[in-house]
Amino acid sequence: MASRSLLCLYAFVLFSLATADFSAALSPYFYNKVCPKALPTIKRVVEAAVQKEKRMGASLLRLHFHDCFVNGCDASILLDATSTIDSEKNAGANANSARGFNVVDDIKSQVDKVCGRPVVSCADILAVAARDSVVALGGPSWTVQLGRRDSTTASRTDANNNIPSPFMDLPALITRFSNQGLDTKDLVALSGGHVIGFAQCNFFKNRIYNESNIDPAFARARQSTCPPNGGDTKLAPLDPTAARFDTGYFTNLVKRRGLLHSDQALFNGGSTDTLVKTYSTNFGAFSADFAKSMVKMGNIKPLTGKKGQIRVNCRKVN
Ligand code: HEM
Ligand SMILES: *[C@@H]1O[C@H](CO)[C@@H](O)[C@H](O)[C@H]1NC(C)=O
Repeated sequence: MASRSLLCLYAFVLFSLATADFSAALSPYFYNKVCPKALPTIKRVVEAAVQKEKRMGASLLRLHFHDCFVNGCDASILLDATSTIDSEKNAGANANSARGFNVVDDIKSQVDKVCGRPVVSCADILAVAARDSVVALGGPSWTVQLGRRDSTTASRTDANNNIPSPFMDLPALITRFSNQGLDTKDLVALSGGHVIGFAQCNFFKNRIYNESNIDPAFARARQSTCPPNGGDTKLAPLDPTAARFDTGYFTNLVKRRGLLHSDQALFNGGSTDTLVKTYSTNFGAFSADFAKSMVKMGNIKPLTGKKGQIRVNCRKVN
């Protein structure tokens, strides 16, 4: 009897050891021993890129978002198309829009050089570059969790089905975020990513010519560089100060000067109005919530332990 329960205990311990994944949790210290120069190197390359072109900070932040919303933060967005990879770069939200891939390549080669071998994942590079970009443009900092590994697959279909569209109303936006384990507060805080960067005319054309919840003077101003026919790639800032991480995006929303339909949806008489108003006058509250939600977004379904791989070239599977 005693020996039987001992056997049971033994079997249980063996089973637990076999199934526990001790390396599953991300940690800020992941590269401290294996390559202490990794993070300072990423920061240096990001700062140089943003110095050269302010918009690059916005583009790098967006890459991390578009990575995480498609089967987790696994650098799937960076894979180029091959006979077996249906590249996410060709998804609606990314085609002729996502940018910054050359900077990511540059970061990767410099990091691998200082580390002496490829130990830093492309997924972690995107997460750190997003943080360093925000800081470079005057935004808050946060501790980036590390240890994500890179996918060996990509899915254009999943990108199309998961990344929110600029033509969505509030309920659809809430659903896309909740599908990722992100709540309505995360939606509003993270949409604050639009305090920096630009959008192309085709994404806001219908809004500035056809919608009524828009400041007429703002609509006219945008119409002057975004014609009703053609000019689809002409840029307009998502925020009046597109190179500064401030509260301009939210103050604009309160004035019905949101550029995208999905931006104004956050302040259109619905449940998120109050939070938009709070952020519009409280940079501290926005910054703190943005940082918190960025960490939460960065934790979406990472590949850890023996899953995935550390890519040598972020654009292709090893
Ligand atoms: C809430 C749903 C969202 C929608 C519908 C949306 C949509 C868009 C669209 C259409 C653009 C313009 C792209 C172009 O014209 O090529 C854009 C740009 C941008 N988005 Fe979002 N976005 C959303 C959320 C986010 C989030 C959560 C972040 C980051 C935390 C973010 C960061 C950015 C940045 C920084 C840019 C400017 C990129 C650049 O200038 O290169 N967006 N977004
Ligand atoms: C405005 O709406 C009409 C009717 O839906 C549409 O045909 C037209 O293309 C829209 N205009 C713009 C500039 O998007």
